[in-house]
Amino acid sequence: MRVKSWWPNSAIYQVYPRSFQDSNGDGEGDLKGVSTRIDYLKSLGVDAIWLSPFYKSPNKDGGYDVADPRDVDPRFGDLGDAKALIDGAHKVGLKIIVDIVPNHFSTEHHWFKAALNSPKRSRERARFHFYDGRGATGESPPNNWNSIFGGPAWSRITEKDGTAGQWYLHLFDSTQADLNWDNQEVREDFEATLRFWLDLGADGFRIDVAHGLAKDEILKDHHDPEALTRALRLDVTDMPDNERAELLSDVPFFDREGVHQIYRGWRKIFDSYPGERISVAEAWVHPSSRAARYVRSDELHQIFNFDFLVAPWSAITLIPAIKRTLSEVAAVAAPPTWVLSNHDSPRLVTRLGGGEIGEWRARAFALLTHALPGGIYIFQGEELGLADGELSDEVRQDPIFFRTNGKDKGRDGARIPLPWDTANEATNKFGFTTGEPWLPIPAHWSSKSVASQDKENSSSLNFYRESLRIRSEHPALKSSSNYEINWLAAPDGVIAFQRHPGFALFANTTAQTMDLEVPAEFELLFSSRPGVAIDGGRLTLPGDATCWLTAFK
Ligand code: GLC
Repeated sequence: MRVKSWWPNSAIYQVYPRSFQDSNGDGEGDLKGVSTRIDYLKSLGVDAIWLSPFYKSPNKDGGYDVADPRDVDPRFGDLGDAKALIDGAHKVGLKIIVDIVPNHFSTEHHWFKAALNSPKRSRERARFHFYDGRGATGESPPNNWNSIFGGPAWSRITEKDGTAGQWYLHLFDSTQADLNWDNQEVREDFEATLRFWLDLGADGFRIDVAHGLAKDEILKDHHDPEALTRALRLDVTDMPDNERAELLSDVPFFDREGVHQIYRGWRKIFDSYPGERISVAEAWVHPSSRAARYVRSDELHQIFNFDFLVAPWSAITLIPAIKRTLSEVAAVAAPPTWVLSNHDSPRLVTRLGGGEIGEWRARAFALLTHALPGGIYIFQGEELGLADGELSDEVRQDPIFFRTNGKDKGRDGARIPLPWDTANEATNKFGFTTGEPWLPIPAHWSSKSVASQDKENSSSLNFYRESLRIRSEHPALKSSSNYEINWLAAPDGVIAFQRHPGFALFANTTAQTMDLEVPAEFELLFSSRPGVAIDGGRLTLPGDATCWLTAFK
């Protein structure tokens, strides 16, 4: 008997462990803390939890600088805590997805230390990208690439005899040394890591920088590295679309053909385990049609679709984005995904303008997203309607802030610990910790805390719970075999579609109330803000609002 897949339609909740729940009073979240909140996640109505890295790490990039991928960093607990978390989640029917970071290792990994202690052309150096520099004394880097985080993508080492030595590649921070995926030991080591977590019970992997592993033109200069760096940065908005598209269509270190062979090998490992073990690629590829190549039937299961993560709340952008995504994944028979926020981007409310308007738009955007076919990802705190917290420069920790000399404030604003209750309100700990939160929690988050929102029917938290509940129960939304949506005619600024059986959505992305015609059999099911009414086939929909209609009794 074929068992129904758990993942194509699932709601997956991203936990950023450092900021989720502290259990030992050191001011940083940990795995035991996550275990104590399993009931909360269950009651929210998600199907799975994706845990950002909790592995041994000097934490120069929020744990995405991994020093031992098969061990837990003491700040998060130990392997026993990881096992307990996986088992605890399984007990209530939640799946656990862990992060894997194959593009680079921390320079604290024992392989990198061994490379520093070994000569040129040694087996130890061959696991990374070590090259001699250019110029008479090797004083210039091997090529002109920039780090995504700012500054050059190469750092020079000092050889054991004290002389200035070779250079190593790091597409991100200088403490994140890129691995050489042409090296058999690298491939085998990652397969061992996959098996390690699968054996422990993990249900899948989120693959960090999944498009980065193959580097086939490593000694070639790029024709315009500064422009390329700007094109790769989401916060650079003053670059013309065609210029950006041109630059991103050929990035010498991303989306090279060689990555696909790696994932075909990984897929065989996933499929060799009982249950459905899945994978989701973090791969920013251009044009977006290239994304489908990662989810061909013998490769990965999902790829994050980041269209909504960067899109404004505007029908004119969103309608074509939805159409394009659906047709691209349909071509390879893979389910689509939708992402509104994550640990690398400003929080949704902030991105949509902040304040009350930002909050209404965020709910409207969520309701649109939750009605689309496929899987959804929810970043912790999105359900609370949190905005980015204000931070002073002294407390910032993101390497982007340091590598751009403070020009780019970085991603810490979205990584502030969650406010759970009003306990210790006076000291701004909000039930997250009994110690000093590693990033200060804004005082005004008291009303945003889970405890406050739990009691209030119209809160963002209860809105998310209801939306996820209906999404898992309505026959048109819960079906994972029907990815069709039927577009309805609508005035400019309005998104309108039907899904069968008996579901319709209207989203008003303008600020004005709209009076809309709807098929007579529909009645109001749910809406993102008050003031929505249906009367004799006429729908009154306030600005920045989405509503769900049903004809299914
Ligand atoms: C991914 C992660 C991000 C990290 C980077 C380098 O984009 O999501 O947080 O900084 O990879 O590992």
